[in-house]
Amino acid sequence: MKLQKKLHKNVLITGGLQGIGKAIALTLKKRGDCVFVFDHVAKEDKRVEELKNFGIYYFLVDISDTKSIDHGFFQLFDILKNDSLDILVNNAGITRDSLAIRMDEKNWDDVFDVNLKGAFFCCKFAIKRMMRQSKSYIINISSIVGKTGNVGQINYAASKAGLISITKTLAAEYGKRNILVNAIAPGFIQTDMTKKLDENIKNAILQRISLKRFGEPNEVAYLVEFLTGGKADYITGSVIDLNGGLF
Ligand SMILES: NC(=O)c1ccc[n+]([C@@H]2O[C@H](COP(=O)([O-])OP(=O)(O)OC[C@H]3O[C@@H](n4cnc5c(N)ncnc54)[C@H](O)[C@@H]3O)[C@@H](O)[C@H]2O)c1
Repeated sequence: MKLQKKLHKNVLITGGLQGIGKAIALTLKKRGDCVFVFDHVAKEDKRVEELKNFGIYYFLVDISDTKSIDHGFFQLFDILKNDSLDILVNNAGITRDSLAIRMDEKNWDDVFDVNLKGAFFCCKFAIKRMMRQSKSYIINISSIVGKTGNVGQINYAASKAGLISITKTLAAEYGKRNILVNAIAPGFIQTDMTKKLDENIKNAILQRISLKRFGEPNEVAYLVEFLTGGKADYITGSVIDLNGGLF
């Protein structure tokens, strides 16, 4: 008897409750994937209910805490049993902005714990499973400021630069296992993260964008869809800009 080929992909997205992560979750769910989300909001939150209504699985995981990540993957693998984890999207991220001379240790650590340490340990757990599979994808959501730096965001910019470095290192180490690792570097995308910025700052950024508009979360999601859809399988170790021409 011929074995039937598995059609859907199993996807884990961190920080998938809102913004870019949610757009990625819904886009991949629409494609037919089986989507799992790690986020740190209580299960009673109405955003969790909303995800569940779309048939997306939710796990309460604090990405800044390696024990919580460990527990999250334990629960995920318990559900997946011997099935594959095909895609990991490291999307959870936070900002704690201030000028460098005012940056305190807590804000430095908080940002690094989520954006860099948490993302790395998710990669580590996922790769151990992915090494046994024929093909898998990791997408790290970095940022344009990881390449350019940014006034008032020394911690955030450095963490996003670190994520680029993690992307390239993992792509080099696990290419032979057919684990494709890429980063996306969005410019200014309209989400809660950017909503809180001062209007003058937003207008100044808008002037620097060639397309004269901010990006939408779906536009990041469509790139994830492309990178993980089977037609981009010679791309690994890359950082792909998605910024409307932000100079
Ligand atoms: N919005 C932008 O303009 C922009 C630009 C470049 C890069 N990014 C990156 O894209 C990603 C998503 O950004 P967004 O704008 O959608 O942000 P957002 O603040 O709207 O969403 C972030 C998500 O991450 C979750 N999260 C935060 N801390 C967590 C933790 N400790 N454990 C688990 N989940 C946690 C939040 O609950 C939320 O669901 C981030 O990594 C961000 O740095 C955003």
